[in-house]
Amino acid sequence: MLRKLAISAFAAATLAVGAGALSSGAAHAAGGAGHVEDYSFPFEGPFGRFDQNQLQRGLQVYTEVCAACHGLQYVPLRTLADEDGPGLTEEEVRAYIEMNFIEVYDEELQDWRAATPNDHFPRSSLENAPDLSLMTKARAGFTGPYGLALNPLFRGMGGPEYVASLLTHYTGSEREEFGAILYGNETFAGGYIAMAPPLWDDAVVYNDGTPATVEQMALDVAAFLTWTAEPHLMDRKQMGFTAVIMLGILSVLLYLTNKRIWAPVKYRAKGSTPAE
Ligand code: HEC
Repeated sequence: MLRKLAISAFAAATLAVGAGALSSGAAHAAGGAGHVEDYSFPFEGPFGRFDQNQLQRGLQVYTEVCAACHGLQYVPLRTLADEDGPGLTEEEVRAYIEMNFIEVYDEELQDWRAATPNDHFPRSSLENAPDLSLMTKARAGFTGPYGLALNPLFRGMGGPEYVASLLTHYTGSEREEFGAILYGNETFAGGYIAMAPPLWDDAVVYNDGTPATVEQMALDVAAFLTWTAEPHLMDRKQMGFTAVIMLGILSVLLYLTNKRIWAPVKYRAKGSTPAE
């Protein structure tokens, strides 16, 4: 018995160390972000859901500001009509493509043509601007403490928080390096980023009357980019919740069954007869 306990304690310790090593590895891969604000988003927590109005506002910010440099090449345009996503109507998706003159290069025609809803968003038009399709999954806002990965467990990975923080934590200082201008940013690893501050107050005008402050636009576009990276987030949460309930019921049934099966043996051991 003692030996078994010792073995499982050892296994648990190895696992914990392994997890620690993994999480510090992840932090390293993410470049060790600077300051990340713990914003709260409506899609957080076990019952979190995307706010459709926010996704639509985020799409607007992406389209009118970010798309000048950044692509979303892994996102099919038709998914803008997803019910769990921005929820545009099919006509609105067509109008969106037309109004923004979205074109794709057609390998068969060997020429550019107007995009259809089945095509994807374009690639980044600026060479050193990364594609944003999966950006909120590619950055970890919260790691630690001490490589234990406890922060991600309680606060989430912090990808959306990272993006929102990045956009709102420019310091205003500039620096020239190899002929390129870098902009001071408290969130970006290293403190200087090649992206000029893309947002300013009222950079867009929201249809729903929401005041377009820098923070509001940053949160909206971060929420939109969370949807592009994880379009089935709400399904996944729903499924997880159902699974937990089912497993809970199953546990109770198994407990009762177990008691029932072993009852005769237990009573025999005690020298009495079962109450049946
Ligand atoms: C004028 C072009 C331009 C615009 C507009 C622009 N970006 Fe960028 N962005 C860049 C460049 C260039 C980089 C690469 C910066 C670097 O690696 O130093 C970048 C990097 C990023 C990164 C990655 C940072 C990291 O951790 O590696 C994110 C996230 C990002 N941009 C989000 C946005 C969002 C959201 C918008 C719209 C609100 C936007 N950008 C608008 C040029 C732009």
